[in-house]
Amino acid sequence: MTPYHSTSPIDIKGLSVSYDKKRVLTNIYLKIPQGSIVGVIGPNGAGKSTLFKAVLGLIDTNAGDIKVHGQDIEDVRKRVAYVPQKDDVDWTFPATVTDVVRMGRFPHKGIFQSLNKTDFEIADNAMRDLSILDLKDRQIGELSGGQQQRVFISRALAQEADLFFLDEPFVGVDMLTEEKIIELLKRLRSEGKTTLVVHHDLSTVESYFDHVILLNQRLVAFGKTEDVFTSENINRTYGAQLNILHKSSLQKDL
Ligand SMILES: Nc1ncnc2c1ncn2[C@@H]1O[C@H](COP(=O)(O)OP(=O)(O)O)[C@@H](O)[C@H]1O
Ligand SMILES: [Mg+2]
Repeated sequence: MTPYHSTSPIDIKGLSVSYDKKRVLTNIYLKIPQGSIVGVIGPNGAGKSTLFKAVLGLIDTNAGDIKVHGQDIEDVRKRVAYVPQKDDVDWTFPATVTDVVRMGRFPHKGIFQSLNKTDFEIADNAMRDLSILDLKDRQIGELSGGQQQRVFISRALAQEADLFFLDEPFVGVDMLTEEKIIELLKRLRSEGKTTLVVHHDLSTVESYFDHVILLNQRLVAFGKTEDVFTSENINRTYGAQLNILHKSSLQKDL
């Protein structure tokens, strides 16, 4: 049992964020239950990535209080893993698959401590879990979108975190990989771990997520998927952009 079991993995009170003078998130309150897989749903520019970055302490906020496992992010950073949106990664950076996955072990090390045999084994196991062990010596820039995504998820797994942030993990990913990742998230949930996933395909929301955050700069709704993922709330989230969704294959039975 972790010493944090009585507190929520993420507790956000009154969060507001602006870039320059442009307000992106306004007065967000969220308390995420432990051991859940939470979908973060909303149109482009809704502030989904910004929400992740604010919780991770990667950007300045205007207002609000954010606690991760009841503490400031800086004090629990090694327990929190982040898979950034694909555009946020420099894919030309010269690194092999193994290099990237082993980076997941760094948060557990002191400044002058190097990785040891156990760290290497944990990294190998994480690569095996995502079926990329045979790619271990390849440069990340040479891989397919699905393989790259699996590398970053392996890194998160190697970190042995208990809170995971995945920003659009299924973009450019084949169906088999997507199913493998979801299977993995469900395994993590059975171990009491919590995952937040920015997701676009509304047709899979009900089968993937037990909770959803519907976001469009303000929090439209948060709760159990069966309670809050309603056409009314989806309409309120997407507003005018819904017409575009109707025309694409993203959406069914609205
Ligand atoms: N570093 C930044 N500087 C200025 N504006 C930004 C920056 N990052 C994001 N934005 C803007 O903030 C809004 C929300 O962005 P983002 O959180 O990335 O949305 P989402 O992930 O939901 O698509 C968008 O209008 C985006 O253009
Ligand atoms: Mg984004």
